[in-house]
Amino acid sequence: MRSTPSATGKTPSGLRVMGNTVREVVARRGRGCLRPPVLVLARVPHPQPVNPLRPRGISAVRSRSMKEERMGQRGRVVVVVGASRGIGRAVAYRLARRGDRLVVVARDEEALARTAEHCRALGAQVLAVPADVTDSDALGSVVRSAVERFGRIDVWIGVTGVLAYGTVEQTPTAVYRRVLETNLIAQIDGVRRVLPVFRAQGSGRIILIGSLYSRVTAPYVSAYAASKFGLLGFAGSLRQELLDARGIDVRVIIPATIDTAVYQRAANLTGRVPRPIPPVVSPFRVARAVERSTRGRGAPVMPVGRVQSALIPFSAAFPRVFDHVVRLSMETLGLTRRPADDTLGTLDRPHHDAGRVTGGWRSPGLRAGLVALALAGAAALAGRRRRQ
Ligand SMILES: NC(=O)c1ccc[n+]([C@@H]2O[C@H](COP(=O)([O-])OP(=O)(O)OC[C@H]3O[C@@H](n4cnc5c(N)ncnc54)[C@H](OP(=O)(O)O)[C@@H]3O)[C@@H](O)[C@H]2O)c1
Repeated sequence: MRSTPSATGKTPSGLRVMGNTVREVVARRGRGCLRPPVLVLARVPHPQPVNPLRPRGISAVRSRSMKEERMGQRGRVVVVVGASRGIGRAVAYRLARRGDRLVVVARDEEALARTAEHCRALGAQVLAVPADVTDSDALGSVVRSAVERFGRIDVWIGVTGVLAYGTVEQTPTAVYRRVLETNLIAQIDGVRRVLPVFRAQGSGRIILIGSLYSRVTAPYVSAYAASKFGLLGFAGSLRQELLDARGIDVRVIIPATIDTAVYQRAANLTGRVPRPIPPVVSPFRVARAVERSTRGRGAPVMPVGRVQSALIPFSAAFPRVFDHVVRLSMETLGLTRRPADDTLGTLDRPHHDAGRVTGGWRSPGLRAGLVALALAGAAALAGRRRRQ
């Protein structure tokens, strides 16, 4: 898969695909990510003084979620950013079944239309807004369109993400910039644009999709890990700032390896074909966790995928061992020996297709193969230890 360069050979991020290499040609991008949001919906009320003897944050959220529970969540307005495929599409389907009104957002109009069509067939009212989230004005239009169509926004779910494989030395700065812009800056921008709506309403829930890579790192994915660590940091600060904002809630879901086509669509500069490190979890499980979060259930930072999530305490307890294990896993399981051309994947533009929820990584044959590979990897590690 190769990102299609324009007539000049340049892609929108200023990268040029040349044979087997990707060269940086433009260092500076002219986007105004520091431009303040222009949307003003109402006066922002001053935060109410908080009585320290009465911790309202938790009880307010709890009573709100019980009320939602009684209402059966019918008719909430939920914006799903990154809903054309994968986890975002699974989330949209799940919420459509629960009777939520949806605003679905992504770049690929064709795949987005399919998501919207299916959600309507499930009985939901749906507004599809094609947009590139790295375009700040387009994100502003998403918020405006949602409020114009449905009068309010109850939940904002930031799903968008892109993946890039390459060592630090193989990865051009422009690729780092693009990954950080999509996975971090655009998520921050979306939150900043929806917050005035939540402040004016006095309620709203923000759910961001981080990753296991928000908590642990691996070689060859430094751009992605940097963006996901950043996202978790951002969400933590925001949650603390909003402790006195009654009814506004911030949550992060951190999935392990999920069966989507993000791996086939990733930018790749390693020269080897990448694949997900098993065990691979269904995107519908992430959708279930997201849906629970929309009802205020579960922890503010919620892992999905028990086996790999055990790596979080493991890496903290045994950091040196973890470094070796994760490097070996990536070398043996995360990257195949099959050669691959350099590609920007969907970093700069979507691959137009009908879109799918799953990536085909959980077929029984493939699973057996990956388990065999995992066992081989573990045996190699054990052998190496014995030799040392
Ligand atoms: N799959 C995993 O193993 C895994 C694990 C942990 C976390 N996650 C996270 O889960 C989220 C969803 O990933 P996925 O696996 O479902 O990937 P996916 O199938 O590739 O879906 C990514 C979604 O983001 C959208 N998107 C990407 N760049 C965009 C842009 N510039 N503007 C607007 N939309 C954009 C894509 O739509 P278009 O291409 O049509 O724009 C698509 O809807 C990501 O944040 C990812 O980091 C995934």
